[in-house]
Parts: sequence; C-alpha cells; structure tokens
Amino acid sequence: AIDIRKLRQDTGLITFDPGFGNTGSCKSAITFMNGEKGILRYRGIPIEQLAENSTFVETAYLLINGNLPDRKTLTRTSVMLSDFSLLHEDMKFFYQNFPRKAHPMGILSAMVNALRSFYPELIDLDEDLNFTFLRLISKVRTMAAMAYKISRGHKVVYPRPDYSYCANFLHMMFDSPVIPYQMDDDLVDALNVFWILHADHEQNCSTAAVRVVGSGKVNIYAALSAGISALWGPLHGGANQAVIQMLESIQQEGLSIPQVIAKAKDKNDPFRLMGFGHRVYKTYDPRAKIMKKICDKVLSRCKHLDSLLNTAMELEAAALSDAYFQEKNLYPNVDFYSGIVLRAMGIPTNMFTVMFAIGRLPGWIAQWREDMLDSNQKISRPRQIYMGENIRDYTPIDERP
Ligand code: ACO
Repeated sequence: AIDIRKLRQDTGLITFDPGFGNTGSCKSAITFMNGEKGILRYRGIPIEQLAENSTFVETAYLLINGNLPDRKTLTRTSVMLSDFSLLHEDMKFFYQNFPRKAHPMGILSAMVNALRSFYPELIDLDEDLNFTFLRLISKVRTMAAMAYKISRGHKVVYPRPDYSYCANFLHMMFDSPVIPYQMDDDLVDALNVFWILHADHEQNCSTAAVRVVGSGKVNIYAALSAGISALWGPLHGGANQAVIQMLESIQQEGLSIPQVIAKAKDKNDPFRLMGFGHRVYKTYDPRAKIMKKICDKVLSRCKHLDSLLNTAMELEAAALSDAYFQEKNLYPNVDFYSGIVLRAMGIPTNMFTVMFAIGRLPGWIAQWREDMLDSNQKISRPRQIYMGENIRDYTPIDERP
C-alpha cells in the first residue's frame, strides 16, 4: 500500500477508483480479511474460533475495545445490556405512525436517529464500558423486535433480565400472552453464531457510510442510522432477503436450475445470482462455510427440510461447476445460507436485513470509535473526474430551444 498523500506534491492529482475497490480509506486494527485465501479475523482472532467459542456480546466487546473481556467485565457488560434494554415509552408513538407495511429497515434507521433526541451522547472514547455504545447495542435489539410486534398489531413484549442477549431477542419477537414462546437453546446458539459472523467486515458499504458520515463529526446515532440505510440495499445486507425471494420465485415459476444459471450469465438480463460474489472474497466466504453448517444443524433440529435449502444446494453445486462463475471467482457469500437459517427461526423475510443490522452494530461502533480516535483522519471528501459541459453562458428561459 502506498500512502499517496505523503507522495503527493501536486494537489491536482486524483486517483480514479470507482467503487473504491483499491482505495484504502483509513488505517484500521479491527478486522483482517484476505479475499484470496478466504480469511477473516476480528482483532486477530479467526472467525472460526469466535463462532465456535464466543458469544455475540463478548465478540462485540472484543471488536469495540480490542481485547477479550475478563469474566468480571463480561458480566458487567451483560448486566448493563440488560439494564439498558427498555425503550423510552414515548418512542412507542413513533412506531404507531409508520404505515403497517413500512419496511423495518426504514423504521430502524429512523428510530436510531431519533434515539439522539432521547438519550445524550456520553462518549468517553477511552472508557471500556461505554454507556452510549452499550445502550445502542441493547436498544437496537429492542427496537427491532418492537417494530415486528407493532407491524403485526401485537402487544409489545418486554425483555427479561434473566435471558441472554440472543434469547431475549427471540423472546421479544415471539412470546405472546396467548402462546408463550418455548426457548430452544439450539436456535439461541444459531442466532449467536449468525450475529458473530455479521459483527464486522472492514470497509464494506455500510461501514464506509458510517465512517464517511461520522467524519463530519456528526453524532454517533446519525452515523449509525446512515449505516443502516446503506445496509438495506440488495447488493449489500438486503441480499439475505433477496436470496429467499429468488429461491421462492425459482420454485413458484418452476424454473430449472440450468435456466437460473443461464439467466445469471446473460448480460442482457439484470438478474444476478443473489448470495453469490463478493468484492473482496475471490474464494468461498469463510462465513458462508460456517453458516452452511449452522443451516444443516438448525434444519435437522427442526425435523423438516426446508425445500428452499434443496434448491439452494442445487444452485450452489451448479454455479460452482460453471465456467462463468469459476472464471469470475463467484462463490457463495454469507447471505446465501443465512436466510434459510433465519426462516427456520421463524424470522419473517422482511426482518432479515434488520437481523444483519443488529449483528453489524458492534462493528460499526468499533469503526466509528477508531475513526474518532485517529488524529490523522480527516473529513471524508472524495474527488471526481469531471465529465460535464465546459463553461457556457446562462440562457434566459424565453431564449431556450
Ligand atoms: N451473479 C452473476 N454475475 C455476477 C454476480 C452474481 N451474483 N456477481 C458478480 N457477477 C459478475 C458481474 O456481472 C461482473 O461481470 P462482468 O465482468 O462480465 O461485467 C463480474 O461478475 C464482477 O462483478 P461486479 O459487480 O463488478 O463485482 P463487485 O465487486 O462490484 O460486486 C457484489 C460485488 C455486489 C457482491 C456482486 O457480486 C453481486 O451483485 N452479488 C449479488 C448480491 C449479493 O449477494 N450481495 C451480498 C454481498 S455480501 C454482503 O454484503 C454481506
């Protein structure tokens, strides 16, 4: 990597890198990725080890603070997450005024921005157990479950202090006064791994959005709200929802697997194989490998094989043996199997990207914090290659052709 700023004498020099595929926008010590070898590490620890041994709360602490917490700190973190889990009662009125069909990602980004009006920013960047960060991690989970309950016209369920972070989410989503939710440890474990796998991924679209917006020194709530908006897109976090919709439409329209592969390869057809391809990974996404195992486990536990899983496996096999996908290094990404896992948990399709957002929150916070602590970091302000008209005179409206 070359620090072009140090080499630059001529202030007119501009690098042209659409999509920033080869631009390092910051220095970071949070997440390491090697796209050729399929390596992902948080703070140096391989994702496989974290998925196997850690909890989402512990991983969140690791990402934000740089090291794994000791037992006492982890307990304090969990207690604080529990203490912060309730939402200001007045915030309920916001939910009631969204149309019932409003997408929960739109609601979530608006609500996170609104949090700033209810809770001050208490940010001491050197503090390990930061109130604002923990409040966000706790309340975003509550807000997401509330959005779901209210969209169904159901009574909001309050969090239980005796439940873990992940169990509490399932409780708030699915418990009801009529049918109490039976907590299933395997589903709690699957959710835990799902969120660990999504917790950070260096300078992806939404994280870059958080950093860019944050670089103007806006409050953290606004920066995270921008990240949620960026994540919503089907080329990014919205892909998990798009994968399920794609698999469903393959089944509904009775398309054969070769027909789907042909559509994905056809340059005149905007269709892409959702859940395939990645800007950085040019091999199997390491998260997808773990997600596939979780998928098998959850579905075998549920004692029914989701027919979408069969379609997904056939599609994966066909794509991996196809020359087009091989030449372009297109492999399944984390979203290819995550939707099936979420479906097995009972999460509705329009909540899939919200699930991703809850998981990505610690990463966004860690990246935002790192940006704030970096005294060399400047306001983000890319340049452009101007391709428009050269100078010309203003034409009064009556003289225009
Ligand atoms: N299906 C078919 N062709 C594809 C696919 C796909 N899923 N992905 C890439 N390609 C092709 C492109 O058409 C392009 O072909 P060309 O060279 O002939 O023009 C080539 O592969 C390179 O693709 P780009 O779009 O230039 O690659 P980029 O790095 O910009 O995009 C992206 C990466 C957005 C992830 C892309 O692979 C894609 O659209 N995938 C489907 C959506 C998806 O799964 N997104 C989730 C990403 S992971 C995440 O955000 C959690």
